Amino acid sequence: MPKNYLAFICQACGAAHGRWQGRCEACGGWNTLAEEAGDAARMPGSRRAQGRMFALEPLAGSSRDAPRLGSGIGELDRVTGGGFVPGSVLLLGGDPGIGKSTLLIQAAAALARRGERAVYISGEEAVAQVRLRAERLGLQQAPVKLAAETAVDDILATLSHGAPPRLVVIDSIQTMWTSAVEAAPGTVTQVRGAAQALIRFAKKSGATIILVGHVTKDGQIAGPRVVEHMVDAVLSFEGEGSHQFRILRAVKNRFGPTDEIGVFEMTGAGLREVANPSALFLSERDLGMPGTAVFAGMEGTRPLLVEIQALVAPTALGTPRRAVVGWDPSRLSMVLAVLEAHCALRLSGHDVYLNVAGGLRIAEPAADLAAAAALVSSFARAPLPADAVYFGEVSLSGAVRPVAQTAARLKEAAKLGFARAVVPEAARGEIPPGALHVAQVGKLGDLVAEIAAAGRRAAA
Ligand code: TYD
Ligand code: MG
Repeated sequence: MPKNYLAFICQACGAAHGRWQGRCEACGGWNTLAEEAGDAARMPGSRRAQGRMFALEPLAGSSRDAPRLGSGIGELDRVTGGGFVPGSVLLLGGDPGIGKSTLLIQAAAALARRGERAVYISGEEAVAQVRLRAERLGLQQAPVKLAAETAVDDILATLSHGAPPRLVVIDSIQTMWTSAVEAAPGTVTQVRGAAQALIRFAKKSGATIILVGHVTKDGQIAGPRVVEHMVDAVLSFEGEGSHQFRILRAVKNRFGPTDEIGVFEMTGAGLREVANPSALFLSERDLGMPGTAVFAGMEGTRPLLVEIQALVAPTALGTPRRAVVGWDPSRLSMVLAVLEAHCALRLSGHDVYLNVAGGLRIAEPAADLAAAAALVSSFARAPLPADAVYFGEVSLSGAVRPVAQTAARLKEAAKLGFARAVVPEAARGEIPPGALHVAQVGKLGDLVAEIAAAGRRAAA
């Protein structure tokens, strides 16, 4: 067997194939195979060296909870589950220009200021560029150690020298290469090899490593999905280009929750934490216009109020358009079907547009009721009360189902000055007495009739 052989590696999933083919058998991707030099040790069927014996341990052992290392940025700690776990590796993905480098230099600076050893390795920008950004952020005095390097072997040799660092930022993993792998930099094999070496270093030294990952046009973290499987947590930094808000989410987290979000605002002086996102998302409301409803949602343990906007207008086309931003299109179809079937709304001749304000993306089924209210409000040209919030899941039978954390949602709405809440009927037990007038609906049809009646009164 020759030491090196040529293999065809799928650039999407990292699977190796002996010959070129149009479609990767492992992930089904078309045209994803590229020729790379592999190393023979990983060639299927190559001879393995004699294994070494190791001791097996019982499951019931004592291992303390690793102390977490707070980053000094509250919203980042919320998403990681209370700070960085020593020896863990995180992958931070996001569109170019969203603010990944800004977030991480801020985190590194906050740690360094507390006396922890923080290292920032940039494979994309020169040291002067990173300094310039730090200056703009007012962080130039923070004792962060900087380097512009792409050779992982050199980076690890440098980091192994002296006191082990607490935080290492690698910006980005796609620019890194290791001489242990023959393939060209940027290929799947290189990215995987570089990530493997860095992960090994993190486990050995107890440093937390954050890898920045590029995102391709269709929103996937570029390079092999295997890197996502190798790391302990995958964070994604999102936002609309035209909005200042940035949302940090955990897509995967071995040491914490995956439903928490961190909210930031991109300002002239870097990312600012947003402690009260509801106020931010509601700051630009179109009061008194039909087609908007405020949804009292939850993101992990944090309540979040956000405006849902709908436009229902007669269609000029044979097939009406359905467009949705920030919500699941199939849930919209479902809510529309329920409105047609159970609430006698004739929507088949109408275009329907639904938008979640502020560039937020909602995944909760609890948004059904607010979306339905916004749709009906637009259809009936009846503005909803400006001081009302809505939440509840709509079932296919047209019933409004209870959702979790009613009390937290109502408390947040009261805090932000809302006077009314429209909630599922069965949520009875959880409603705290006080501030809010709570209206309970059992059937979506009842709410639709009420909104339509208000519309008729307004028109009369
Ligand atoms: P950057 O962190 O370089 O993004 P990424 O690493 O994800 O590609 O952020 C770049 C954008 O952020 C750029 O468009 C300018 C903007 N920005 C600000 O608005 N304020 C700031 O203080 C900084 C540093 C950047
Ligand atoms: Mg960057």
